[in-house]
Amino acid sequence: MNKEDLKSLNQLPQSYWLASTDPTDYSSLSEDISVDIAIIGAGMAGILCAYLLHKENLSMAVLDAGKILGGTTSHTTAKITSQHGLIYDKLKKQMGFDLAKQYADANENAIKQIKDIIDQHHIDCDYSPQSAYIYAEDENNAEKIEDEVKTASELGIKASFIDEIPFPISIKAGMKFDNQAQFHPRKFLLRLAEIIGNEGVRIYENSRAVDLEDGEKITITTEQGKKVTANKVIIASHYPFYNKPGMYFSRIYTERTYILAIAAKEKYPGGMYINAENPSRSLRELDTKDGQLILVVGENHKTGQGRDMANHYRNLIDFADRIFTVEDIPYRWSTQDCMTLDGIPYIGYYKQDTPDILIATGFQKWGMTNSMVAANIIRDLIIDGSSQWQDVYNPSRKNIIGAAKTFIVENVDVAKHLISGKISPLPENVEVSPGEGKVFEHDGERIGAYRDEQGKLFLVNTTCTHMGCELNWNSAERSWDCPCHGSRFTFSGNIIDGPAVSPLTAENDVNTVEKIIKDEF
Ligand code: FES
Repeated sequence: MNKEDLKSLNQLPQSYWLASTDPTDYSSLSEDISVDIAIIGAGMAGILCAYLLHKENLSMAVLDAGKILGGTTSHTTAKITSQHGLIYDKLKKQMGFDLAKQYADANENAIKQIKDIIDQHHIDCDYSPQSAYIYAEDENNAEKIEDEVKTASELGIKASFIDEIPFPISIKAGMKFDNQAQFHPRKFLLRLAEIIGNEGVRIYENSRAVDLEDGEKITITTEQGKKVTANKVIIASHYPFYNKPGMYFSRIYTERTYILAIAAKEKYPGGMYINAENPSRSLRELDTKDGQLILVVGENHKTGQGRDMANHYRNLIDFADRIFTVEDIPYRWSTQDCMTLDGIPYIGYYKQDTPDILIATGFQKWGMTNSMVAANIIRDLIIDGSSQWQDVYNPSRKNIIGAAKTFIVENVDVAKHLISGKISPLPENVEVSPGEGKVFEHDGERIGAYRDEQGKLFLVNTTCTHMGCELNWNSAERSWDCPCHGSRFTFSGNIIDGPAVSPLTAENDVNTVEKIIKDEF
């Protein structure tokens, strides 16, 4: 793909992490089984939970809705950091020094632990020690950086000021964290999956969990109707599909991010960089067999709520052009992650009174170390009954300053989409060109139409199968995205991201709709 191709976005996105590793081929669950621990979701958090727990002589099964490590883990920037934006001073002010220290320690420990696992199993995963940098382009954030360096240092992190970065960007202030790292997440985790699979952990692909019943034992039902009975269940499925009785749908929202992998004339100077402002921008390099690539990342927005989605990639190209001589853009992809009300993931008991159901979600786009943290906390809660880091991540934590306000804002936004999606005016011109997706109305029903490059029309009912919000077309990924809780569907209606567990229906006959378009417009 070259730069001009990308500007017109006439090719589908492809993640470098997926393109540079072999696809997996685990079987789906074809019979009812009973295990000590069942893990729903085989992303980084699920595989690391299984890795730590399989050493405890427990029978285990890991279920994934699609391919293992195929979701957020394969679309990350793969930075192993305790630097998660400007978080520590805010955390100290919101939750106090002790809980801020828990967060810092848990993530610093995770950095070391990932390296130890790599070394122990001699995993070739392009691991590279790096420093992580945040830079501020405005005065307000420069002051925040000053506070952040002070607080991070108090918490035991090796943090220092910088006043310039090796790019043509004028900064007001910056900070550096030492002893951070980057790697290839799929190379690392595919090997770990292989190791635990060889040691008895049962891993199933294409086995979407659609129901969970709590009782003396917990029963998971897959979409094929197979049952997994377990003593403990870990929900590590990104956005939890199970909502009884934790009300996670009211306290998680999802955000999308866009990534370019560019080849540049200049040699990348090393380091992982992120700005303190909006729109977000971050940079890191990766060495591939075809030479060095630079990841150019940013353009966050809530799922289903971007404007011209393709424009997000174009903005990143413009940013890259200002810094580098861009020679090629071989990969581009996007991702989404779950965000919490106070910026800290929910890791621990699903609810205070569900000691046998545990959850790990809301990683805030810092999923590499937070997945390792999740595995540690969940392992310790199950095996030892407590964890040294459980309080700061406790999903049932209360009294967090600012959280209530955010809660209301986020939910007003969601409610607006539940209601207004049904009555928004629809476009009058319903011609659907190749590569284009549109929503139109016929007989009081909203129909989503996408026409592929060969002229074939795909139709879906654009009401989300999760809780009935109206979906928006994502022109960059050619998907139907839900603005409420982040479910995403392919143009033909299959699920890309939950919490939805049912595909979109395509009730309208294509020939009829072609005729409607022809006759009525
Ligand atoms: Fe909840 Fe669509 S994801 S309504």
